[in-house]
Amino acid sequence: MAFYRQVGEVPRKRHTQFRRPDGRLYAEELMGEEGFSSDSSLLYHRGVPSSLVDARPWQLPDQATTPNAPLVPRHLKLHDLFPGEEAMPSTSAAADPVTGRRLVLGNADVRISYAVSSLPSPLYRNAVGDECVFVERGTARVETVFGALDVGPGDYVVLPRATTHRWLPTGAEPLRTYAIEANGHIAPPKRYLSKYGQFLEHAPYCERDLRGPAAPLLAEGTDVEVYVKHRGEGPGGLAGTVHVVPEHPFDVVGWDGCLYPYAFDVADFEPITGRVHQPPPVHQVFEGPNFVICNFVPRKVDYHPLAVPVPYYHSNVDSDEIMFYVDGDYEARKGSGIGKGSVTVHPGGHSHGPQPAAVEASLGAERFDELAVMVDTFRPLQLGEGGAAVDDGRYAWSWSGRGPTS
Ligand SMILES: [Fe+2]
Repeated sequence: MAFYRQVGEVPRKRHTQFRRPDGRLYAEELMGEEGFSSDSSLLYHRGVPSSLVDARPWQLPDQATTPNAPLVPRHLKLHDLFPGEEAMPSTSAAADPVTGRRLVLGNADVRISYAVSSLPSPLYRNAVGDECVFVERGTARVETVFGALDVGPGDYVVLPRATTHRWLPTGAEPLRTYAIEANGHIAPPKRYLSKYGQFLEHAPYCERDLRGPAAPLLAEGTDVEVYVKHRGEGPGGLAGTVHVVPEHPFDVVGWDGCLYPYAFDVADFEPITGRVHQPPPVHQVFEGPNFVICNFVPRKVDYHPLAVPVPYYHSNVDSDEIMFYVDGDYEARKGSGIGKGSVTVHPGGHSHGPQPAAVEASLGAERFDELAVMVDTFRPLQLGEGGAAVDDGRYAWSWSGRGPTS
């Protein structure tokens, strides 16, 4: 995120004495990527950011995965992971947006989890990689060491690796979050940025659409727990530790730089359309190591007089393609049982495209009112416990109309 931001008080010169009203020095911390060679921010703490008074293991939510075998496309009904939440929001009281995550899919580069929650999360820091959390429904305040973000339906919340933060669901509706956890950094596609990092004119969004923290966030507390997810020897090469710190980690009076959390509302993504079908990269919004994130937003569709608005069949020989259907009618999947809250897994090695009836049905359409978030990975994904629990077991046969159980 090469987009400079300054919040709160910082000294005029970096790395110089900066004192509190009582005369003591603030502790300057550089939070930076790629070993002092990429984006960073300087944060000014009231306390010492290295201070620890205790540490104990944190048993992460189940991170084990099983292969997609036999290799088939799959339909995972995410809303069934938290039954009863539509009608009785209060039953979600047991879950929070971090420890309540259920792993849907994962590989060595990225993990996709889903949570429905109404409780605040503990303070949390993902030391494995950046997180991009898509808010499907509900609202929340995301408090971070950089300041707070107020987020709601359609927001992507991008949290850089090792950002101490917590999720506070707000409002009466449960918070539904689709978390994409990378093993590295998540950023806007490089082709939309100038060589110095400014968004270019052909980008479908720009700096004005990104919401960063606007003010410092200070909190009081002693012996405060921070749940840290990090690399380790557990399933997926992951482990957890609870750090106990002597003072509340939200003690930053000011910071500046190009590394910080931000939110982006998918409604601010300006779709790129054409006379004939545009390829999926026009829908790309972010990229991470060995995966991309795209979104399919409400838009005018192909306007050639003989256009076929739904996609052609495609064999993405290098990717697994994961679509999360958020809202609207998903035209290409008509007749397959896909609805809001569905996830489809279209693995490399299988050609996919519209269900047969959807092609004729789409002819003459002028708009698609669909909203979906897609993750394409360049290494195969395996099923997490959550994904395996809500596999409909029938989707693979939806193009032929018959299968082993029909
Ligand atoms: Fe596709």
